[in-house]
Amino acid sequence: MDIANMKKCFEGLRTPFYYYDTVLLARTLDAIRHETDRYEGFHLHYAVKACANPKVLRQIQQAGFGADCVSGGEIRTCLENGFPAGEIVFAGVGKADWEIELALEAGIQYFNVESIPELEVIAEIAQRMGKVANVSFRINPDVGAHTHAHITTGLAENKFGIAKEDMVRVIRIAKQMPSVRFVGLHFHIGSQILRMDDFEALCYRINEMQDELEAEGITDVRNINVGGGLGIDYENPDEHPVPNFKAYFETYARHLKLRPGQRLHFELGRAVVAQCGSLIARCLYVKQTATKQFVIIDAGMTDLIRPALYGAYHCIQNLSSTAPAQTYDVVGPICESSDVFAKDCQLPETKRGDLIAIRSAGAYGETMASRYNCRELPRSYTTEEI
Ligand code: LLP
Repeated sequence: MDIANMKKCFEGLRTPFYYYDTVLLARTLDAIRHETDRYEGFHLHYAVKACANPKVLRQIQQAGFGADCVSGGEIRTCLENGFPAGEIVFAGVGKADWEIELALEAGIQYFNVESIPELEVIAEIAQRMGKVANVSFRINPDVGAHTHAHITTGLAENKFGIAKEDMVRVIRIAKQMPSVRFVGLHFHIGSQILRMDDFEALCYRINEMQDELEAEGITDVRNINVGGGLGIDYENPDEHPVPNFKAYFETYARHLKLRPGQRLHFELGRAVVAQCGSLIARCLYVKQTATKQFVIIDAGMTDLIRPALYGAYHCIQNLSSTAPAQTYDVVGPICESSDVFAKDCQLPETKRGDLIAIRSAGAYGETMASRYNCRELPRSYTTEEI
């Protein structure tokens, strides 16, 4: 939707809210489907943590994707929104007993297990419930990624996964447990990764591990799950509304040596939903101080925490003004100095009441919102609803 149209549609709505462009989401899902269909055994479990908005989830489910969940709450939300339990995988370093029970009761596809103590608890609970738990092991590949330190996960120093040196041992332990079935390996090296050579490095590491397993006589690795991580263009959302899925899936097709019949699972989150979401706010005040000009908007870090937490850049647009640009700091109303969306940002001259769009906010926006300062959680609209 272009800016003039957006302004017209948003005019009467109470701000702040998330706007999800479901036409763009459909285009994005089509692009993924087009690429994954080119290769045998490629399957996507959407990473629900990126955006769990029911309207978005339903559209993703209807496009035929499964779900990657990291909590009992996410599993419940997915079941409520039409995902068959058999299409859900469950990851996370700290699964609580009730979450394991919920997953076993529902009959999810498999658990991504991150430690031996966790494996033991899953086995015990499954045995008590008279079930067999499908488990895949998250192995820490010790592969770095060129991204923000807070969102790199695949290094030996990170808390995630089982050390690759322990891989054979944990698989052997699992194989001796009657209430557990070993179904695969899981990896994830980080998020907002734009360099395909990072994913390529993961492929080489997995190839080495598969050779090692074969040498040890372990030949029943049914699924290889490579996590998510594909980044998006935060600077130019209108030039690159759909991420480069072709390059991403091609990297795996070229460099990962799958064994016959083996399935390759992906857990993309950000790349699926980031560009279709915008946080829409209104300018409350324009405040001039000795050194700065502030645009104070009615959305804050409680609605979108990425700039405050990671120093993340989001493109900001004034939907109401075409006046010549001025330099502003765009800030929220929260009582925290870090409640800043952008510093020294060029915007058309802005006035009280102008509509402001913070772009590329579909991923890790609404899901990370909080009620700090007793604020309401942001509401949301899709293209069909405005
Ligand atoms: N799989 C696993 C095991 C993960 O930990 C994650 C993300 C994903 C898949 C999906 O990654 P994606 O495709 O979205 O990059 N809040 C941060 C991002 C945290 C990512 C956590 N894990 C942000 O706003 O940038």
